[in-house]
Formats: sequence, C-alpha cells, structure tokens
Amino acid sequence: MAVSLSKKRSKFSRKLEPKQSCFAFTILYSFIRRISALIFLLILIYIWSSFSTIITGNIIHVCFSTRKLNDNFYCVSAATHTNPSFDIPTYSINNNTVSTSIITTTEKIEVSNNVTQELGNLSIGTPYNEEVANAVKIIEEHLKVHRSWRSENKNNATCDDGKGIYVYDLPSKFNKDLVGQCSDMLPWQDFCRYISNEGFGEPISKLGKGWYKTHQYSLELIFHSKVLKHPCRVYNENDAKLFYVPFYGGLDVLRWHFQNVSNDVKDSLSLELVKWLERQVNWKRNLGKDHVFVLGKISWDFRRTSDSPWGTRLLELEKLQNPIKLLIERQPWHVNDIGIPHPTYFHPKSDNDIIDWQLKIIRSNRRNLVSFAGAARDHADDHIRSILINQCSSESDGKCKFLNCSSAKCNEPESIIELFVESEFCLQPPGDSPTRKSVFDSLISGCIPVLFDPFTAYYQYAWHLPEDYDKYSVFMDKKEVREMNVNVVERLGNISLRDRENMRRYIVYELLPGLVYGDHNAEFDKFQDAFAIAMNNLIERVNRFKD
Ligand SMILES: *[C@@H]1O[C@H](CO)[C@@H](O)[C@H](O)[C@H]1NC(C)=O
Ligand SMILES: *[C@@H]1O[C@H](CO)[C@@H](O)[C@H](O)[C@H]1NC(C)=O
Ligand SMILES: *[C@@H]1O[C@H](CO)[C@@H](O)[C@H](O)[C@H]1NC(C)=O
Ligand SMILES: *[C@@H]1O[C@H](CO)[C@@H](O)[C@H](O)[C@H]1NC(C)=O
Ligand SMILES: *[C@@H]1O[C@H](CO)[C@@H](O)[C@H](O)[C@H]1NC(C)=O
Repeated sequence: MAVSLSKKRSKFSRKLEPKQSCFAFTILYSFIRRISALIFLLILIYIWSSFSTIITGNIIHVCFSTRKLNDNFYCVSAATHTNPSFDIPTYSINNNTVSTSIITTTEKIEVSNNVTQELGNLSIGTPYNEEVANAVKIIEEHLKVHRSWRSENKNNATCDDGKGIYVYDLPSKFNKDLVGQCSDMLPWQDFCRYISNEGFGEPISKLGKGWYKTHQYSLELIFHSKVLKHPCRVYNENDAKLFYVPFYGGLDVLRWHFQNVSNDVKDSLSLELVKWLERQVNWKRNLGKDHVFVLGKISWDFRRTSDSPWGTRLLELEKLQNPIKLLIERQPWHVNDIGIPHPTYFHPKSDNDIIDWQLKIIRSNRRNLVSFAGAARDHADDHIRSILINQCSSESDGKCKFLNCSSAKCNEPESIIELFVESEFCLQPPGDSPTRKSVFDSLISGCIPVLFDPFTAYYQYAWHLPEDYDKYSVFMDKKEVREMNVNVVERLGNISLRDRENMRRYIVYELLPGLVYGDHNAEFDKFQDAFAIAMNNLIERVNRFKD
C-alpha cells in the first residue's frame, strides 16, 4: 500500500509494502533516496552556512554554522598525532542538526536486502561544483583520520604488553535473546538458517570448503564469535584498553521491521543498553571513547528520524557518539562510523585456502567482458540501473551478461559467484543505499568492480581499500552516464588487457585476503583477514592515544 503524503512532499512518496525480491527479503526502510539528494541538500546547507576552521591545541575542528538551523554548529575534529593525552578525536554535532536535517528531507523507500540494495533517482541534478567539493573535503578529512589509525603491523596484533580487548558479558537480552527470536523476524522466511555456524549460515557444498550462505546482516554475530577467540582478549577489565560491546543492534532493528509497534518500543533496548553501560566503571572513565560496537546493518538503520517509522535511534543517542561503530555502511558525516567490508560467502580457514582460491580465479576463463547482477527499479526509467540493464541486454555479441535479480536466480550465491568469476568487469550501481555487498562478491571473484557513485566504496572503507581507487576499480560518474549517453560496455572494452591484468592482480593478490572474514578457527600466517585488520587498527588507535 502506498501512503500518500501532502502535495508538497509528494515527490517523496513512500511504499510500505513488503515485496519479494532477490533474496526473497524486502524491508520497509528509511533512507536518503539517493546520494544526489544528499549532496544537493548539502549545497543548500552550504549556501546558508558559513564555513570555518578553528584550531585549538592539537585538534582541528572544521565547522559549519548554519543560519537556517539556528546557528548550531556542525564540526569535524581531527587530532594530530602528537596528542599526549587520551584524546581520541570525536565528532560532534550539537543537537543533531545538520545530519538530521539532511535525513528528514529525504524519502522513505523500500529496500531489498541483498546484492541489490538500491538507491533510487531524484530528478534534481548533482552539480559537482565548488560547494560539493567542500562537502567532499569533510568526508575526505574523516577518511584521513581513519587511515591515520591504520596499524602498520602486518602480522600479529599489537597486544604484546599484556593489555588487550575486553568483551563485555552483556545480559542476554542484548544479544542471545535476539538471536532466539530469529524465527519470528521475517514473515516469509526463517532467518535462523543464517545464524547457524556462528553467523556464517549454511555451507555451500557446490563451491567447496569454506563457502557459506552468509547473510548480508550477519557481521555482529561473526565479529562477536571471532573476538571471543582473539589472542588479545583479556578476562579482567583492568587489563583492557579496548572494550567490545557485543550488542546485536541490527537484529534489534530487524525484529521490529514487520511489527506495528511504537517508536518507544523500538528504542527501548537501545536505551536500556545506555543505562547498562553507564553503570560500568570503564565506560565512565573515558566516556565510551575506548569502546567499540559492531553493527550488522547500515548506519541509517540506527538513525531513525522523526517522520519515519524505520529503525531505531541507537546511533543518534548522545551517549553513543563517542564509541567507534564498525558498520557495513557508514554515515558520511560521523567520523566514529567506520565502514568495514560487507561479509562475502567465503570464509577460508588457512593461507592455503586463500592461495588455492587466488590461483583458481586468476586463471579463470573470463568469457564475459561485463556482467551485472541486479534488478531494475520500477519507479525510475532513467535510473542508472535501468540504463545499465538496457545497455547490457542490448549487447548482441554477448559481451555483457545480465543476471536478472527480479527473477529467482540471485537467491543462489553460487550463480552470482560463477558469473563474477567468468567476468572481467562487474557493474555496481548504487541501490537504495550506496553500498553493495556485491562489490565485495565481485572483488573476491577477481572481477573488476565498475562504480558509479563514490559513496559505494571510496568514502566507506578506509581501512580495507586503498586511497588510490584506480588500482582496483573503474569509476564512471552516474550523472555522466545518464546525461551523456556513455556506452559503458564499449568504454570498458577500450580498457587495455594490460590494465585489466594489473588491476586484477592487485585485487586478487593484494586486496582479497583482507576482504574476507576467515573461519572462526582460522590460522593465517601470511595473511590478515578483514577481521584481523579491523581489530589491529582498533588496538592501534587506542594505543596511540593512550600512551
Ligand atoms: C542544544 O539544545 C539544548 C536544549 O534543547 C540547548 O540548551 C543547548 O543550548 C543547545 N546547544 C546548542 C549548541 O545549540
Ligand atoms: C606472531 O605470533 C606468533 C605466535 O604467537 C609468533 O610465532 C610469530 O613469531 C609472531 N610474528 C611476528 C612477526 O611477530
Ligand atoms: C498500528 O497500531 C495502531 C495502534 O495500535 C493502530 O491505530 C494502527 O491502525 C495500526 N496500523 C496498522 C497498519 O496495522
Ligand atoms: C527481469 O525479470 C522481470 C521479472 O521476471 C521481468 O519483468 C523483466 O522484464 C526482466 N528484465 C529483463 C531486462 O529481462
Ligand atoms: C573506444 O575506442 C574507440 C577507438 O579508439 C573510440 O572511437 C571510441 O570512442 C571509444 N569508446 C568509448 C566509449 O570510449
């Protein structure tokens, strides 16, 4: 059923109807309809704003003050490395003004939870001018801060001084009891099958050992299991420098998706968690700055706005601004949101599992120049997806292969991985939200991702992907594709074999090991998986600021 809104806002019409899609899993969703809207709004805000840089001591604050928004300040702080005290740089939005105002002006949309998380299309343009460049500068500042926390240690975790990670033993209502509700979470499907094997889901025998039907939203389960086995784990809080809060906030959001409950009900567990944390001595000591959350859904799901029924307000709570949040998609204006790779289906156990897979995909016969696994958006013909599907299907010589996710095929990880292993380039247009699990499926298949929006990967994963994105991807601005009739397939065909080879080798040998979440009992000597990279950087960050 479509809920019609007042005329003034009719272009932000919304759908409340759950609909089967790719992974037979669709959810009602509140989010910026597309990033162009966000950038456009940012321009508006910029126009109403003055922009200033304030330097106090070792901390640089970049602030907007917006007249429109009652002179509230929107600041980004970046500490320099010489900070002597425990002063982990934090981000502050006073009274949630800017980010909230951006979100509330956007529409609610439906989202399919799978390879085709889609971002719709607004009729307003995205002029890439100076103002946008300034907005992007702020994001780049965040990414620089994130990169500054990267650990140089390529091998073992840096906990050799005996101090390490403390994992809270939370009351079960914050995690285990949520898992216990898995059978009731989705009206049409048993979510419990995705929770087996400590969050990896059911094995996929067809793809071999180490492959599982892993759900896109399972990282909070996977990380929790893995952190309990981490070599730096300590059992005494006083020995800890980093505190892991194993709250399954994503499952908490998910369980209310299809229930008609009040916002108070949706937020109740988040508020209880804050109360619980405030009773902890170590939370109080550094105001949560040395605490970390891993949340399995995208940041927007935890930032419910006043006119949306979607999600919780967990990450909008003032008390939760200080901790680091690892998420599959970060909110671009919050420096303590850190993007980490979406989980793929591959969870290798050893160096050899990785090496065998690398050899297999580097030798694979890539018979398709281009492929696209996804679905169109019904509501927009000029959406980048529809354009790509048209271009792809009209290639008569079979250069481009389209796996239609409106039909059932995309339910099967093996069809997707097989397609990507046989393709040179994989098209990755944004969906309802900018990031895609499919980007990581394509990277671990040795298929070069073609991105149309910088928020899909470049502004997200500072710890796991290099700054120089030409090394592993091709970028085509979606506006240019739309307006200039760029023939994407032809342009990709023009990329030399040598360049393709160089990108593929970089992806397969340099990036791939760090993009997979290894088996729960994995032992790697040569490689660091995505989990190890994240944990090392978290430890590095607290080390740096505490000493
Ligand atoms: C934030 O809101 C509170 C109460 O609404 C107000 O007292 C405070 O001055 C505001 N802070 C800023 C920086 O505007
Ligand atoms: C890493 O740890 C293992 C055992 O804990 C040790 O044998 C190895 O030498 C360490 N490697 C480095 C580079 O510190
Ligand atoms: C949801 O619940 C409220 C209060 O119980 C009720 O008024 C409303 O009609 C319900 N909405 C739907 C869609 O069932
Ligand atoms: C994809 O599948 C849907 C549903 O079966 C169909 O309506 C649509 O035309 C298909 N698209 C293409 C390009 O084949
Ligand atoms: C591909 O290369 C050919 C020959 O150099 C050129 O004519 C054509 O415009 C190129 N196509 C695209 C889309 O860049």
